[in-house]
Amino acid sequence: MENMAAPDLFEKIVSLCKRRGFIVQSSEIYGGLPATYDYGPLGVELKRNLTTRWWHAMTRRHPNIEGLDAAILMHPTVWKASGHVDAFKDPLIDDKASKMRYRADTLIEDQIARLRKKKKTQKADALAEAYAAAMNAENMCDELYKVIVEHEIKSPDSGSKDWTEVRQFNMMFSTRLGAVDKDATEIYLRPETAQGIFVNFNYVRDVSRQAIPFGIAQMGKAFRNEIVARQFVFRMREFEQMELQYFVKPGTQMEAYEEWKEKRLQWHCDNGVRPERLRFADHVKLAHYADAAVDIEYDFPIGWKEIEGIHSRTDYDLSAHQEHSGKKLEYFDTQTKERFIPYVVETSAGVDRSILMVLCDAYEEEKLENDTRVVLHLHPKLAPYTAAIFPLVKKEGMPEVAHAIEADLREDLNCFYDEKGAVGRRYRRMDEAGTPYCVTIDGQTLEDGTVTVRERDSMNQERVSKDKLLPYLQDQIRAYKPSFSADK
Ligand code: GAP
Repeated sequence: MENMAAPDLFEKIVSLCKRRGFIVQSSEIYGGLPATYDYGPLGVELKRNLTTRWWHAMTRRHPNIEGLDAAILMHPTVWKASGHVDAFKDPLIDDKASKMRYRADTLIEDQIARLRKKKKTQKADALAEAYAAAMNAENMCDELYKVIVEHEIKSPDSGSKDWTEVRQFNMMFSTRLGAVDKDATEIYLRPETAQGIFVNFNYVRDVSRQAIPFGIAQMGKAFRNEIVARQFVFRMREFEQMELQYFVKPGTQMEAYEEWKEKRLQWHCDNGVRPERLRFADHVKLAHYADAAVDIEYDFPIGWKEIEGIHSRTDYDLSAHQEHSGKKLEYFDTQTKERFIPYVVETSAGVDRSILMVLCDAYEEEKLENDTRVVLHLHPKLAPYTAAIFPLVKKEGMPEVAHAIEADLREDLNCFYDEKGAVGRRYRRMDEAGTPYCVTIDGQTLEDGTVTVRERDSMNQERVSKDKLLPYLQDQIRAYKPSFSADK
Protein backbone atom coordinates (compact mmCIF):
# COMPACT_ATOMS: atom_id res chain seq x y z
CA MET A 1 0.00 0.00 0.00
CA GLU A 2 1.44 3.40 -1.01
CA ASN A 3 1.76 5.92 1.79
CA MET A 4 0.98 9.29 0.27
CA ALA A 5 0.43 11.03 3.61
CA ALA A 6 3.43 13.29 3.35
CA PRO A 7 4.24 13.94 -0.31
CA ASP A 8 6.84 16.65 0.38
CA LEU A 9 8.51 14.86 3.29
CA PHE A 10 10.74 12.90 0.94
CA GLU A 11 11.82 16.09 -0.84
CA LYS A 12 12.64 17.71 2.51
CA ILE A 13 14.85 14.78 3.48
CA VAL A 14 16.63 14.87 0.08
CA SER A 15 17.18 18.60 0.54
CA LEU A 16 18.52 18.17 4.09
CA CYS A 17 20.90 15.46 2.85
CA LYS A 18 22.40 17.87 0.33
CA ARG A 19 22.38 20.96 2.54
CA ARG A 20 24.00 19.29 5.57
CA GLY A 21 26.59 17.20 3.72
CA PHE A 22 25.05 13.72 3.86
CA ILE A 23 24.44 12.90 0.19
CA VAL A 24 24.75 14.79 -3.11
CA GLN A 25 24.37 13.76 -6.74
CA SER A 26 27.55 12.49 -8.38
CA SER A 27 29.44 14.90 -10.69
CA GLU A 28 27.12 17.73 -9.72
CA ILE A 29 29.34 20.47 -11.22
CA TYR A 30 28.75 18.80 -14.62
CA GLY A 31 25.00 18.66 -14.16
CA GLY A 32 25.06 15.32 -12.32
CA LEU A 33 25.03 11.69 -13.38
CA PRO A 34 21.56 10.15 -12.90
CA ALA A 35 21.10 7.53 -10.18
CA THR A 36 24.63 7.87 -8.81
CA TYR A 37 25.38 9.68 -5.56
CA ASP A 38 28.31 10.81 -3.42
CA TYR A 39 28.37 10.71 0.38
CA GLY A 40 29.57 13.98 1.91
CA PRO A 41 31.33 14.53 5.27
CA LEU A 42 28.32 13.58 7.42
CA GLY A 43 27.06 10.88 5.05
CA VAL A 44 30.32 9.01 4.96
CA GLU A 45 30.46 8.88 8.78
CA LEU A 46 26.87 7.61 8.95
CA LYS A 47 27.60 5.02 6.28
CA ARG A 48 30.75 3.80 8.05
CA ASN A 49 28.91 3.52 11.36
CA LEU A 50 26.09 1.53 9.75
CA THR A 51 28.33 -0.85 7.81
CA THR A 52 30.59 -1.37 10.86
CA ARG A 53 27.53 -2.30 12.91
CA TRP A 54 26.49 -4.81 10.23
CA TRP A 55 30.00 -6.28 10.10
CA HIS A 56 30.14 -6.67 13.87
CA ALA A 57 26.62 -8.12 14.07
CA MET A 58 27.38 -10.70 11.38
CA THR A 59 31.02 -11.71 11.87
CA ARG A 60 32.09 -10.81 15.44
CA ARG A 61 28.86 -12.03 17.02
CA HIS A 62 28.82 -15.27 15.02
CA PRO A 63 31.99 -17.35 15.36
CA ASN A 64 30.73 -19.50 12.49
CA ILE A 65 30.63 -16.56 10.03
CA GLU A 66 33.77 -15.56 8.11
CA GLY A 67 34.35 -12.32 6.23
CA LEU A 68 35.36 -11.85 2.61
CA ASP A 69 36.22 -8.98 0.28
CA ALA A 70 36.08 -10.33 -3.28
CA ALA A 71 36.92 -8.36 -6.43
CA ILE A 72 34.25 -6.43 -8.30
CA LEU A 73 35.51 -7.77 -11.63
CA MET A 74 35.10 -11.53 -11.99
CA HIS A 75 35.59 -14.19 -14.65
CA PRO A 76 32.81 -13.72 -17.25
CA THR A 77 31.65 -17.34 -16.89
CA VAL A 78 30.60 -16.55 -13.30
CA TRP A 79 27.67 -14.55 -14.72
CA LYS A 80 26.78 -17.24 -17.23
CA ALA A 81 26.69 -19.81 -14.41
CA SER A 82 24.72 -17.57 -12.06
CA GLY A 83 22.06 -16.98 -14.73
CA HIS A 84 22.67 -13.22 -14.90
CA VAL A 85 23.72 -13.21 -18.57
CA ASP A 86 20.48 -14.92 -19.62
CA ALA A 87 17.99 -13.77 -17.03
CA PHE A 88 19.03 -10.55 -15.26
CA LYS A 89 16.68 -8.49 -17.37
CA ASP A 90 13.99 -5.86 -17.02
CA PRO A 91 10.96 -5.54 -19.34
CA LEU A 92 11.31 -2.22 -21.20
CA ILE A 93 8.95 -0.23 -23.37
CA ASP A 94 9.53 2.94 -25.43
CA ASP A 95 7.23 5.91 -25.92
CA LYS A 96 7.37 6.45 -29.71
CA ALA A 97 6.49 10.13 -29.35
CA SER A 98 9.13 11.21 -26.81
CA LYS A 99 11.59 8.32 -27.47
CA MET A 100 11.77 7.92 -23.69
CA ARG A 101 12.28 4.41 -22.31
CA TYR A 102 10.45 2.99 -19.28
CA ARG A 103 10.24 -0.19 -17.28
CA ALA A 104 6.88 -1.72 -18.24
CA ASP A 105 6.27 -3.16 -14.75
CA THR A 106 7.00 0.19 -13.07
CA LEU A 107 4.67 2.05 -15.45
CA ILE A 108 1.85 -0.25 -14.40
CA GLU A 109 2.73 -0.10 -10.68
CA ASP A 110 2.75 3.72 -10.81
CA GLN A 111 -0.62 3.71 -12.54
CA ILE A 112 -2.06 1.42 -9.83
CA ALA A 113 -0.73 3.82 -7.15
CA ARG A 114 -2.23 6.81 -8.99
CA LEU A 115 -5.64 5.13 -9.24
CA ARG A 116 -5.56 4.23 -5.55
CA LYS A 117 -4.62 7.79 -4.65
CA LYS A 118 -7.62 9.03 -6.66
CA LYS A 119 -9.74 6.41 -4.81
CA LYS A 120 -10.56 4.62 -8.10
CA THR A 121 -10.37 1.36 -6.23
CA GLN A 122 -12.21 -0.87 -8.72
CA LYS A 123 -10.01 0.23 -11.62
CA ALA A 124 -6.89 -0.14 -9.48
CA ASP A 125 -7.89 -3.66 -8.40
CA ALA A 126 -8.64 -4.71 -11.99
CA LEU A 127 -5.28 -3.38 -13.15
CA ALA A 128 -3.45 -5.01 -10.24
CA GLU A 129 -5.07 -8.36 -11.10
CA ALA A 130 -4.17 -8.11 -14.79
CA TYR A 131 -0.62 -7.06 -13.83
CA ALA A 132 -0.13 -10.03 -11.48
CA ALA A 133 -1.35 -12.42 -14.21
CA ALA A 134 1.01 -10.84 -16.79
CA MET A 135 4.04 -11.10 -14.47
CA ASN A 136 3.34 -14.81 -13.99
CA ALA A 137 2.76 -15.54 -17.69
CA GLU A 138 5.24 -17.48 -19.86
CA ASN A 139 5.14 -14.68 -22.46
CA MET A 140 5.46 -11.94 -19.82
CA CYS A 141 6.55 -9.19 -22.25
CA ASP A 142 3.53 -9.68 -24.57
CA GLU A 143 1.16 -9.78 -21.61
CA LEU A 144 2.61 -6.61 -20.04
CA TYR A 145 2.22 -4.83 -23.39
CA LYS A 146 -1.44 -5.92 -23.55
CA VAL A 147 -2.07 -4.62 -20.01
CA ILE A 148 -0.52 -1.23 -20.84
CA VAL A 149 -2.57 -0.87 -24.03
CA GLU A 150 -5.86 -2.26 -22.66
CA HIS A 151 -5.71 -0.08 -19.53
CA GLU A 152 -4.76 2.94 -21.63
CA ILE A 153 -1.64 3.82 -19.65
CA LYS A 154 -0.11 7.06 -20.89
CA SER A 155 3.54 7.99 -21.14
CA PRO A 156 4.51 10.07 -18.06
CA ASP A 157 6.50 12.47 -20.25
CA SER A 158 4.46 13.02 -23.43
CA GLY A 159 1.03 11.76 -22.40
CA SER A 160 1.08 9.62 -25.56
CA LYS A 161 -0.30 6.07 -25.72
CA ASP A 162 1.81 5.17 -28.75
CA TRP A 163 4.04 2.42 -27.33
CA THR A 164 6.59 0.04 -28.82
CA GLU A 165 6.35 -3.62 -27.83
CA VAL A 166 7.91 -4.70 -24.51
CA ARG A 167 11.45 -6.14 -24.73
CA GLN A 168 13.87 -7.60 -22.18
CA PHE A 169 16.99 -5.54 -21.41
CA ASN A 170 20.01 -6.89 -19.48
CA MET A 171 20.87 -4.73 -16.47
CA MET A 172 24.54 -5.64 -16.16
CA PHE A 173 27.16 -3.01 -17.02
CA SER A 174 29.87 -4.46 -19.20
CA THR A 175 33.41 -3.31 -19.80
CA ARG A 176 36.41 -4.69 -21.66
CA LEU A 177 39.40 -6.49 -20.18
CA GLY A 178 42.63 -6.13 -22.13
CA ALA A 179 44.68 -3.40 -23.72
CA VAL A 180 43.93 -4.10 -27.39
CA ASP A 181 40.31 -3.53 -28.26
CA LYS A 182 39.98 -6.35 -30.79
CA ASP A 183 41.38 -8.96 -28.34
CA ALA A 184 39.58 -7.59 -25.32
CA THR A 185 37.17 -9.83 -23.43
CA GLU A 186 33.79 -8.49 -22.37
CA ILE A 187 33.46 -8.64 -18.59
CA TYR A 188 30.85 -7.30 -16.20
CA LEU A 189 30.71 -5.05 -13.16
CA ARG A 190 29.14 -7.32 -10.54
CA PRO A 191 25.38 -6.76 -10.14
CA GLU A 192 25.47 -8.40 -6.67
CA THR A 193 28.23 -9.29 -4.22
CA ALA A 194 26.85 -12.81 -3.62
CA GLN A 195 28.64 -14.55 -6.51
CA GLY A 196 32.04 -13.57 -5.05
CA ILE A 197 31.05 -15.62 -2.01
CA PHE A 198 29.89 -18.69 -3.97
CA VAL A 199 33.06 -18.93 -6.05
CA ASN A 200 35.15 -18.66 -2.84
CA PHE A 201 33.17 -21.35 -1.00
CA ASN A 202 35.95 -23.99 -1.14
CA TYR A 203 38.67 -21.46 -0.38
CA VAL A 204 37.02 -19.96 2.72
CA ARG A 205 35.96 -23.36 4.07
CA ASP A 206 39.50 -24.74 3.60
CA VAL A 207 41.33 -21.84 5.24
CA SER A 208 38.83 -21.34 8.08
CA ARG A 209 38.10 -25.06 8.70
CA GLN A 210 34.47 -24.16 9.41
CA ALA A 211 31.93 -26.96 9.63
CA ILE A 212 28.40 -26.64 8.36
CA PRO A 213 26.33 -24.65 9.24
CA PHE A 214 28.60 -21.69 8.57
CA GLY A 215 28.38 -18.40 6.71
CA ILE A 216 30.42 -16.00 4.61
CA ALA A 217 29.69 -12.27 4.89
CA GLN A 218 30.70 -9.59 2.45
CA MET A 219 29.85 -5.96 1.78
CA GLY A 220 30.75 -3.92 -1.26
CA LYS A 221 29.72 -2.14 -4.41
CA ALA A 222 27.30 -3.55 -6.96
CA PHE A 223 26.23 -2.06 -10.29
CA ARG A 224 22.94 -2.26 -12.18
CA ASN A 225 21.94 -0.32 -15.27
CA GLU A 226 18.58 0.63 -13.74
CA ILE A 227 16.15 2.21 -16.17
CA VAL A 228 13.95 3.76 -13.53
CA ALA A 229 16.51 6.13 -12.07
CA ARG A 230 14.67 8.12 -9.45
CA GLN A 231 13.72 8.09 -5.79
CA PHE A 232 17.13 9.35 -4.68
CA VAL A 233 19.41 6.63 -3.25
CA PHE A 234 16.56 4.12 -3.23
CA ARG A 235 17.36 3.03 -6.78
CA MET A 236 20.91 3.65 -7.91
CA ARG A 237 23.12 2.43 -10.71
CA GLU A 238 26.10 2.08 -8.36
CA PHE A 239 25.17 1.03 -4.84
CA GLU A 240 26.41 -1.04 -1.94
CA GLN A 241 25.20 -4.35 -0.55
CA MET A 242 25.77 -6.21 2.73
CA GLU A 243 25.29 -9.91 2.04
CA LEU A 244 25.52 -13.17 3.94
CA GLN A 245 25.46 -16.63 2.39
CA TYR A 246 24.74 -19.18 5.12
CA PHE A 247 25.59 -22.77 4.11
CA VAL A 248 23.46 -25.50 5.68
CA LYS A 249 22.72 -29.19 5.32
CA PRO A 250 19.89 -29.83 2.82
CA GLY A 251 16.64 -30.26 4.75
CA THR A 252 17.62 -27.78 7.49
CA GLN A 253 17.27 -24.64 5.34
CA MET A 254 13.83 -23.61 6.63
CA GLU A 255 15.07 -23.50 10.23
CA ALA A 256 17.97 -21.25 9.17
CA TYR A 257 15.66 -19.14 7.00
CA GLU A 258 13.30 -18.43 9.93
CA GLU A 259 16.23 -17.72 12.25
CA TRP A 260 17.80 -15.20 9.83
CA LYS A 261 14.47 -13.50 9.13
CA GLU A 262 14.14 -12.64 12.81
CA LYS A 263 17.80 -11.70 13.29
CA ARG A 264 17.80 -9.34 10.34
CA LEU A 265 14.56 -7.62 11.34
CA GLN A 266 15.93 -7.17 14.86
CA TRP A 267 19.15 -5.63 13.47
CA HIS A 268 17.21 -2.81 11.83
CA CYS A 269 15.27 -2.25 15.08
CA ASP A 270 18.57 -2.17 17.01
CA ASN A 271 19.60 0.70 14.73
CA GLY A 272 16.70 2.66 16.20
CA VAL A 273 14.22 2.11 13.34
CA ARG A 274 10.63 2.04 14.59
CA PRO A 275 9.37 -1.59 14.48
CA GLU A 276 5.88 -0.51 13.36
CA ARG A 277 7.41 0.89 10.17
CA LEU A 278 9.00 -2.45 9.27
CA ARG A 279 7.27 -5.55 7.92
CA PHE A 280 7.91 -8.82 6.11
CA ALA A 281 6.53 -9.21 2.58
CA ASP A 282 6.65 -12.77 1.23
CA HIS A 283 7.53 -13.12 -2.45
CA VAL A 284 4.40 -14.13 -4.33
CA LYS A 285 6.36 -15.56 -7.24
CA LEU A 286 9.48 -17.49 -6.25
CA ALA A 287 12.55 -17.55 -8.50
CA HIS A 288 13.00 -21.03 -10.00
CA TYR A 289 15.92 -21.80 -7.64
CA ALA A 290 14.33 -20.54 -4.39
CA ASP A 291 12.14 -22.49 -1.99
CA ALA A 292 11.30 -19.43 0.16
CA ALA A 293 11.89 -15.69 -0.15
CA VAL A 294 10.81 -12.64 1.81
CA ASP A 295 11.57 -8.93 1.76
CA ILE A 296 11.97 -6.70 4.78
CA GLU A 297 10.08 -3.55 3.83
CA TYR A 298 10.09 -0.08 5.36
CA ASP A 299 7.25 2.42 5.25
CA PHE A 300 9.10 5.22 3.39
CA PRO A 301 7.37 8.54 2.68
CA ILE A 302 7.12 7.15 -0.89
CA GLY A 303 5.44 3.93 0.28
CA TRP A 304 6.37 0.48 1.61
CA LYS A 305 9.58 -0.55 -0.14
CA GLU A 306 12.16 -3.32 0.10
CA ILE A 307 15.34 -2.71 2.05
CA GLU A 308 16.55 -6.31 2.41
CA GLY A 309 15.82 -9.70 0.91
CA ILE A 310 16.10 -13.06 2.70
CA HIS A 311 16.18 -15.96 0.28
CA SER A 312 16.45 -19.70 0.64
CA ARG A 313 18.39 -20.42 -2.58
CA THR A 314 18.71 -24.24 -2.31
CA ASP A 315 21.91 -25.64 -3.89
CA TYR A 316 21.30 -23.76 -7.15
CA ASP A 317 24.33 -21.44 -7.11
CA LEU A 318 26.96 -23.90 -5.87
CA SER A 319 25.66 -26.57 -8.30
CA ALA A 320 25.79 -24.10 -11.22
CA HIS A 321 29.36 -23.05 -10.39
CA GLN A 322 30.39 -26.70 -9.93
CA GLU A 323 29.02 -27.48 -13.38
CA HIS A 324 30.55 -24.47 -15.16
CA SER A 325 33.95 -24.53 -13.40
CA GLY A 326 34.35 -28.30 -13.33
CA LYS A 327 35.49 -27.99 -9.67
CA LYS A 328 33.72 -29.94 -6.93
CA LEU A 329 31.89 -27.61 -4.53
CA GLU A 330 30.71 -30.32 -2.16
CA TYR A 331 30.90 -30.64 1.58
CA PHE A 332 31.88 -33.83 3.39
CA ASP A 333 30.23 -34.31 6.76
CA THR A 334 32.85 -36.16 8.82
CA GLN A 335 30.28 -37.26 11.40
CA THR A 336 27.63 -38.75 9.13
CA LYS A 337 30.10 -39.56 6.30
CA GLU A 338 27.73 -37.87 3.85
CA ARG A 339 28.81 -35.80 0.86
CA PHE A 340 26.49 -33.11 -0.42
CA ILE A 341 26.25 -29.67 -2.01
CA PRO A 342 25.14 -27.35 0.80
CA TYR A 343 21.91 -25.39 0.65
CA VAL A 344 22.14 -21.63 1.08
CA VAL A 345 20.15 -19.07 3.02
CA GLU A 346 21.01 -15.57 1.88
CA THR A 347 20.45 -12.22 3.60
CA SER A 348 20.99 -9.29 1.26
CA ALA A 349 20.62 -5.71 2.50
CA GLY A 350 21.22 -2.46 0.65
CA VAL A 351 23.55 -0.03 2.43
CA ASP A 352 22.09 3.01 0.68
CA ARG A 353 18.48 1.98 1.26
CA SER A 354 19.28 1.32 4.93
CA ILE A 355 20.79 4.81 5.18
CA LEU A 356 17.75 6.35 3.51
CA MET A 357 15.55 4.40 5.93
CA VAL A 358 17.36 5.56 9.08
CA LEU A 359 17.27 9.15 7.81
CA CYS A 360 13.53 8.98 7.02
CA ASP A 361 12.85 7.32 10.36
CA ALA A 362 14.91 9.85 12.28
CA TYR A 363 13.59 13.01 10.59
CA GLU A 364 11.22 15.16 12.60
CA GLU A 365 9.98 18.73 12.39
CA GLU A 366 9.25 19.31 16.04
CA LYS A 367 6.97 22.09 17.12
CA LEU A 368 8.37 24.00 20.09
CA GLU A 369 6.74 26.82 22.05
CA ASN A 370 7.88 29.66 19.75
CA ASP A 371 9.69 27.78 17.08
CA THR A 372 10.01 24.61 14.99
CA ARG A 373 13.20 22.61 14.93
CA VAL A 374 14.31 20.01 12.38
CA VAL A 375 15.88 17.15 14.27
CA LEU A 376 17.34 13.81 13.22
CA HIS A 377 16.79 11.32 16.03
CA LEU A 378 19.65 9.13 14.82
CA HIS A 379 20.80 6.36 17.12
CA PRO A 380 23.99 7.65 18.84
CA LYS A 381 25.89 4.65 17.46
CA LEU A 382 24.98 5.73 13.92
CA ALA A 383 25.15 9.52 14.27
CA PRO A 384 28.01 11.12 12.28
CA TYR A 385 29.10 13.11 15.36
CA THR A 386 28.45 11.73 18.81
CA ALA A 387 29.21 14.99 20.59
CA ALA A 388 29.57 18.68 19.76
CA ILE A 389 31.80 20.85 21.92
CA PHE A 390 30.70 24.45 22.41
CA PRO A 391 32.70 26.98 24.42
CA LEU A 392 30.00 29.54 25.26
CA VAL A 393 32.24 32.60 24.89
CA LYS A 394 35.79 33.09 23.75
CA LYS A 395 36.73 34.11 27.29
CA GLU A 396 40.35 33.64 28.26
CA GLY A 397 41.11 30.00 29.00
CA MET A 398 37.75 28.69 27.72
CA PRO A 399 38.73 27.60 24.17
CA GLU A 400 41.81 25.85 25.65
CA VAL A 401 39.65 23.89 28.12
CA ALA A 402 37.14 23.12 25.34
CA HIS A 403 39.88 21.88 22.98
CA ALA A 404 41.32 19.71 25.75
CA ILE A 405 37.88 18.12 26.33
CA GLU A 406 37.47 17.65 22.57
CA ALA A 407 40.89 15.97 22.24
CA ASP A 408 40.05 13.67 25.13
CA LEU A 409 36.67 12.62 23.67
CA ARG A 410 38.02 12.22 20.13
CA GLU A 411 40.00 9.16 21.25
CA ASP A 412 36.68 7.29 21.53
CA LEU A 413 33.93 9.38 19.90
CA ASN A 414 33.65 11.46 16.76
CA CYS A 415 33.30 15.12 17.83
CA PHE A 416 32.51 18.47 16.28
CA TYR A 417 33.94 21.72 17.65
CA ASP A 418 32.17 25.07 17.17
CA GLU A 419 32.82 28.34 18.95
CA LYS A 420 30.95 30.67 16.57
CA GLY A 421 27.49 32.22 16.86
CA ALA A 422 24.64 32.03 19.34
CA VAL A 423 24.50 28.76 21.22
CA GLY A 424 20.82 28.26 20.24
CA ARG A 425 21.81 28.29 16.57
CA ARG A 426 24.67 25.91 17.24
CA TYR A 427 22.22 23.49 18.92
CA ARG A 428 19.87 23.67 15.91
CA ARG A 429 22.66 22.87 13.46
CA MET A 430 23.60 19.83 15.53
CA ASP A 431 19.92 18.74 15.79
CA GLU A 432 19.79 18.68 11.98
CA ALA A 433 23.02 16.70 11.84
CA GLY A 434 21.61 14.19 14.35
CA THR A 435 24.30 14.87 16.99
CA PRO A 436 22.92 13.34 20.20
CA TYR A 437 24.99 15.29 22.77
CA CYS A 438 26.16 18.91 22.90
CA VAL A 439 28.70 19.80 25.58
CA THR A 440 28.91 23.47 26.57
CA ILE A 441 31.85 24.94 28.39
CA ASP A 442 31.08 28.13 30.36
CA GLY A 443 32.39 30.31 33.14
CA GLN A 444 31.45 27.70 35.76
CA THR A 445 33.64 25.13 33.97
CA LEU A 446 36.69 27.23 34.72
CA GLU A 447 35.66 27.42 38.37
CA ASP A 448 34.48 23.90 39.23
CA GLY A 449 35.42 21.74 36.21
CA THR A 450 31.82 20.89 35.23
CA VAL A 451 30.23 21.14 31.77
CA THR A 452 26.62 21.12 30.58
CA VAL A 453 25.49 18.16 28.48
CA ARG A 454 22.38 18.81 26.40
CA GLU A 455 20.60 15.71 25.11
CA ARG A 456 19.21 16.11 21.57
CA ASP A 457 15.80 14.38 21.79
CA SER A 458 14.60 15.67 25.17
CA MET A 459 16.72 18.86 25.09
CA ASN A 460 17.31 18.20 28.81
CA GLN A 461 20.53 19.58 30.22
CA GLU A 462 22.67 18.09 32.95
CA ARG A 463 25.81 19.33 34.69
CA VAL A 464 28.61 16.75 34.59
CA SER A 465 32.21 16.80 35.81
CA LYS A 466 34.49 17.08 32.77
CA ASP A 467 36.63 14.28 34.18
CA LYS A 468 33.62 11.94 34.12
CA LEU A 469 32.31 13.14 30.74
CA LEU A 470 33.44 10.16 28.63
CA PRO A 471 31.97 7.43 30.90
CA TYR A 472 28.83 9.57 31.31
CA LEU A 473 28.34 9.77 27.50
CA GLN A 474 29.15 6.07 27.08
CA ASP A 475 26.44 5.20 29.66
CA GLN A 476 23.96 7.47 27.87
CA ILE A 477 24.73 5.82 24.51
CA ARG A 478 24.27 2.34 25.97
CA ALA A 479 20.94 3.30 27.54
CA TYR A 480 19.65 5.28 24.51
CA LYS A 481 15.99 4.83 23.54
CA PRO A 482 14.72 6.89 20.58
CA SER A 483 12.05 9.41 21.51
CA PHE A 484 9.99 11.57 19.17
CA SER A 485 7.89 14.51 20.24
CA ALA A 486 4.78 12.45 19.37
CA ASP A 487 5.90 9.82 21.93
CA LYS A 488 6.44 12.35 24.71
N1 GAP B 1 22.04 -11.36 -3.92
C1 GAP B 1 20.66 -11.08 -3.90
C2 GAP B 1 20.31 -9.73 -4.37
O1 GAP B 1 21.13 -9.02 -4.91
P1 GAP B 1 18.31 -8.09 -4.57
O2 GAP B 1 16.94 -8.17 -3.95
O3 GAP B 1 18.40 -7.91 -6.02
O4 GAP B 1 19.03 -9.43 -4.12
C3 GAP B 1 19.33 -6.97 -2.45
O5 GAP B 1 19.13 -6.94 -3.84
C4 GAP B 1 19.26 -5.57 -1.87
O6 GAP B 1 20.14 -4.70 -2.58
C5 GAP B 1 17.88 -4.92 -2.00
O7 GAP B 1 17.03 -5.30 -0.94
C6 GAP B 1 18.25 -3.44 -1.92
O8 GAP B 1 18.37 -3.02 -0.58
C7 GAP B 1 19.61 -3.39 -2.59
N2 GAP B 1 19.46 -2.92 -3.99
C8 GAP B 1 19.16 -3.65 -5.08
N3 GAP B 1 19.12 -2.88 -6.18
C9 GAP B 1 19.41 -1.63 -5.77
C10 GAP B 1 19.53 -0.37 -6.44
N4 GAP B 1 19.38 -0.26 -7.76
N5 GAP B 1 19.82 0.73 -5.71
C11 GAP B 1 20.00 0.65 -4.37
N6 GAP B 1 19.91 -0.52 -3.69
C12 GAP B 1 19.62 -1.64 -4.37
